[in-house]
Amino acid sequence: MNQENAVLDRYTEGANQRQESLCCPVDYQTELLKILPQEIIEKDYGCGDPSRYVREGDVVLDLGSGSGKICYMAAQLVGDKGKVIGVDMNNDMLALARKYQPEMTNKLGSDRVQFKKGKIQDLALDIDAMEQRLASNPITDANALAAFDAWKHQQCTQEPLIADDSIDLVVSNCVLNLVNDVEKQQLVDEIFRVVKPGGRIAISDIVSDESIPEHLKENKELWSGCISGAFQELEMLKMFHDAGFIAVTYDKWSDTPWQIVEGIEFRSVTLTAIKREQTECIDKGHAAIYRGPFSFAIDDEGYEFPRGQRMAICERTFNVLNNEPYKDSFICIAPAIEQDAKEWCSPAGTLRPAKETKGSLHSVNTSSSACC
Ligand SMILES: C[S@@+](CC[C@H](N)C(=O)[O-])C[C@H]1O[C@@H](n2cnc3c(N)ncnc32)[C@H](O)[C@@H]1O
Repeated sequence: MNQENAVLDRYTEGANQRQESLCCPVDYQTELLKILPQEIIEKDYGCGDPSRYVREGDVVLDLGSGSGKICYMAAQLVGDKGKVIGVDMNNDMLALARKYQPEMTNKLGSDRVQFKKGKIQDLALDIDAMEQRLASNPITDANALAAFDAWKHQQCTQEPLIADDSIDLVVSNCVLNLVNDVEKQQLVDEIFRVVKPGGRIAISDIVSDESIPEHLKENKELWSGCISGAFQELEMLKMFHDAGFIAVTYDKWSDTPWQIVEGIEFRSVTLTAIKREQTECIDKGHAAIYRGPFSFAIDDEGYEFPRGQRMAICERTFNVLNNEPYKDSFICIAPAIEQDAKEWCSPAGTLRPAKETKGSLHSVNTSSSACC
């Protein structure tokens, strides 16, 4: 079975006629649906709501944008300073999403949504540009093929569909499972490439509780129906962590499986993570205290935080721990006196003596601001 062709056929049908079997009930923020055309709401093949993670001013990329629903929801949240890009490989889905662009531009008050043709496992290749090139320069012999390869390389490096480090938030709704297993690593690496340092991802997808046997992966209906291509639940976390993301979290986890096939539970989850800032790790005298409730915590960079201990951290880690999703778990303490930056970071496990931070600012959050 050619999995990509199965996916193309299934979503061509889905763009033209609502497919009940592809619809997984999702609790969207209803106020964002109010201005959406009915056809977009009906042809919803998502399994979660990554639009909840969008912030004002964000540049958002939606992988496998389908009818454009998440893009048009996100567009309301980014405001007129933000931007939303949807990428999909299916002509009919792109046509459906683009059909409503003038109407949505009018309702939103600006043209802040774009739909691009591409494969999400190769976000450098602009397929519209490639098809134009092929139409004007058909490949008829080996020389033409070599010229095409050179053009493609230049296009991907000089004018990538999505540039390196250009996106504040990558979202996706029930699409990553549709990418061939052999291309899933490349897919995760591509997501990492395009996110800005400090940027975020929110991926709603289907995971399985056990490994999926080959005969289920060979089943066209199950593959294109967002079931047998699912990540195994641990494998998904691990792939994003190994690609370089930190704070990798299952922020949403559906207790009830969406489908059970041969005893394997398939459920909807939303994975969130951050791309670490690329700044150097330099000790300027910051500290963090892990509040608990566990006896210690280890972050994705391997630093250990025993509960209640005032640990030495670099400024970069301070900025990470002082923000979502960590900030409620840590008391982050700025240096009392701005120290000369040391050329190194204190080794993991270094304590910060209280006298070095006495009198300095502690991060204020809901649990630490109460005064007794
Ligand atoms: C299950 S639908 C989800 C659509 C949309 N995200 C939603 O919430 O309704 C999957 C979409 O991803 C697209 N898709 C699947 N594999 C893709 C790939 N490798 N590259 C780009 N788009 C892909 C399909 O064409 C389809 O529009």
